[in-house]
Amino acid sequence: MRADRLKEEETPLAELLRTLLAQEGAIPFWRFMEFALYHPRHGYYAQLPSRRIGRRGDYYTGPSSGTAFGRLFSEAVAEAWVLLGRPAILDLWEQGAGAGWLACDLVGALRQRAPHLAERIRYTIVEPRELPRKEQEARVSAAGLSNHFRWVESLDGTERLVGVFFSNELVDSFPVHRLLWRSSGWSESFATWKGGRFCFVERPLPAGSQWRDVLEEPAADLPEGWVVEASLDAPLWMRQVAGLIDRGFVFTFDYGFLPQERFLPGRAAGTLRAYRRHRRESDPLAHPGEQDLTAHVDFARLQRAGEEMGLSSLSVVDQHHFFVGILSAVAERYDGKLPEGLTAGGFQTLTHPEFFGRTHRVLIQSKGIVDASSLSCLRFARSVGSCPPDHPPATN
Ligand SMILES: C[S@@+](CC[C@H](N)C(=O)[O-])C[C@H]1O[C@@H](n2cnc3c(N)ncnc32)[C@H](O)[C@@H]1O
Repeated sequence: MRADRLKEEETPLAELLRTLLAQEGAIPFWRFMEFALYHPRHGYYAQLPSRRIGRRGDYYTGPSSGTAFGRLFSEAVAEAWVLLGRPAILDLWEQGAGAGWLACDLVGALRQRAPHLAERIRYTIVEPRELPRKEQEARVSAAGLSNHFRWVESLDGTERLVGVFFSNELVDSFPVHRLLWRSSGWSESFATWKGGRFCFVERPLPAGSQWRDVLEEPAADLPEGWVVEASLDAPLWMRQVAGLIDRGFVFTFDYGFLPQERFLPGRAAGTLRAYRRHRRESDPLAHPGEQDLTAHVDFARLQRAGEEMGLSSLSVVDQHHFFVGILSAVAERYDGKLPEGLTAGGFQTLTHPEFFGRTHRVLIQSKGIVDASSLSCLRFARSVGSCPPDHPPATN
């Protein structure tokens, strides 16, 4: 191995992982990913979010690229409040809030455009880690918005809410199992340390009911070596979110696929990706703790999990149609005036097919709402049958 490569891989986590692998031989890839992203001290997401996301980080997200996301989404929140019957307190829950960009932009926009509603906002950020929480608190405080906010570490034991629960690019960062189709059946990727580097090895996948809805398609027709990733946490998370909602909406923004897209030819190598310094890296096992790891979200499984817990699925709409619907309603509502501070560039970044518009989608669900069809984000929603291109450049 070249000396520079050895140095590159030498992150604090690499040493811990080698010790673990010396004891266990190999660990399932999902455990490697969990370590790499969420180790309490050296994990990728244990650091300040602004070191990871945005211009100074490894990739952009919608909220980190400008204020348009929060400004436009605030209109959907205002519509949700009306559909909920204008409750005295509107709960907004965000999980995976990064550096708090969306939180500040959203509440800031409501203060400008709908001060009567802003007063009623109780914004809860679900954040288990200390440094991200500190950065969120500092941003919220600098914006003079602290009185609206509180933090919880997890969804466990929290009270039920009347309002809106949302996340942007949370679920794609859940650890995934990496499964491969072989002529002998499905096998699972494990990570091991061999020949001076981390590498994959395969083990046959034990039969188990947890895989039934992931691998339900006829595998026999797949070419040898076809890769599928699956997060077992994602549907559990959705069930928990659904259980939290007394009445309200769930908006899950992310990139992902619908059932008919899972086995399209371009997906043969799976959707697991690694990003570092705004470039896609070829090896997901390199630089543990220093590069982002992510995989596409299976929207149908999320939808099913929500429905089992009483959520109605309203749509899986691409971000382009989602935000164009909102903008068109805003233009009507305010005599053609755009929200203050919304720029053409910001809007294009969110909606252009070459950037976030086509790759990123929104799963919209509701509970206890008789008719949500007036939501402007649904105005141009249509079934999204075609396969979006792979991740756009410089986002994850
Ligand atoms: C790809 S980043 C997106 C951040 C932000 N939403 C944005 O759009 O810029 C994913 C975020 O989800 C957070 N995250 C992952 N699992 C989480 C969990 N169980 N609870 C709360 N946050 C979580 C990570 O720490 C990270 O900040």
